[in-house]
Amino acid sequence: MQRRPIIIDTDPGQDDAVAILLALASPEELDVLGITAVAGNVPLELTTVNSLKMTELARRRDVPVYAGCDRPMQRPLITAEYVHGETGIDGADLPEPATAPAKGHAVEFIVDTVMSSEPGSITLCALGPLTNLGTAIAMQPQLTGRLAEIVLMGGAFFEGGNTTPAAEFNILVDPDAADIVFRSGAPITVMPLDVTHQALILRRHLDRFGALGPVGEAVRGMLTFYERYDVEKYGIEGGPLHDPCVIAYLIRPELFSGRAVNVEVEVNSTLTLGMTVVDWWGMTDRPIIATWMREVDAAGFFDLLLERIGRL
Ligand code: RIB
Ligand code: CA
Repeated sequence: MQRRPIIIDTDPGQDDAVAILLALASPEELDVLGITAVAGNVPLELTTVNSLKMTELARRRDVPVYAGCDRPMQRPLITAEYVHGETGIDGADLPEPATAPAKGHAVEFIVDTVMSSEPGSITLCALGPLTNLGTAIAMQPQLTGRLAEIVLMGGAFFEGGNTTPAAEFNILVDPDAADIVFRSGAPITVMPLDVTHQALILRRHLDRFGALGPVGEAVRGMLTFYERYDVEKYGIEGGPLHDPCVIAYLIRPELFSGRAVNVEVEVNSTLTLGMTVVDWWGMTDRPIIATWMREVDAAGFFDLLLERIGRL
């Protein structure tokens, strides 16, 4: 398998953190060119520090972390400390990073890297609000024609929203950026709540992470803190592990299945702002613009995650 060059755009967040660790633990399949932090679950300063904490935890200081946009393109920032805790990765007691963020803005890194690379080679993995990607596309529209793929965690249709009845967090925080991304013409694969809500962290998973050594113990601590909110909210046996679905798809795409659809983002209504409207049954003549994932082999997903985290 040829190594796939990727950029991870992220707002750690415990689930983002595990996704970063999964990617850094998979060098045979993935060449992580850089990590770009964005404001989302917690403010930018913390998402940047948390990204650095993950490169250090994985002993991959070679991977640069760039700070990106500190607020959505047109709206005030919404954060989610109520889910992730004040640090954004509560549950793991990690030292302050010794590594500094790379010089330069994340958006410039994305544009410069994609525009100077082999056309069709780079995959952008978006794990948070799409502010950095939307800004990059607005700055350099030719970007989208040079990408291999955008794989993003965001949106919901069959599951309903997780932040409002209509909207999932990543899309709601910056619906205008999401609208730019979805309309960009880039090849897009979406991991919405419709599929991530099938990847539930169970007690046996947490126990197995805890037995994997220091990195596994950090993952166990983070996920134990992180899952409590969704377990209480939904009354389910475990919290959904959203962002690692993006990385797992790149490593083992056969774990996931979905459908090529049209998706549009609501950017005006106050009632349904940030809703992702999916034409699942092809009832309109709107263009097919994304693969919308709806099924995952959850057992295979956690087996992959545990095997790879166990390498670190
Ligand atoms: O709605 C879930 C998404 O919002 C995940 O990416 C989580 O990390 C938060 O960013
Ligand atoms: Ca995230």
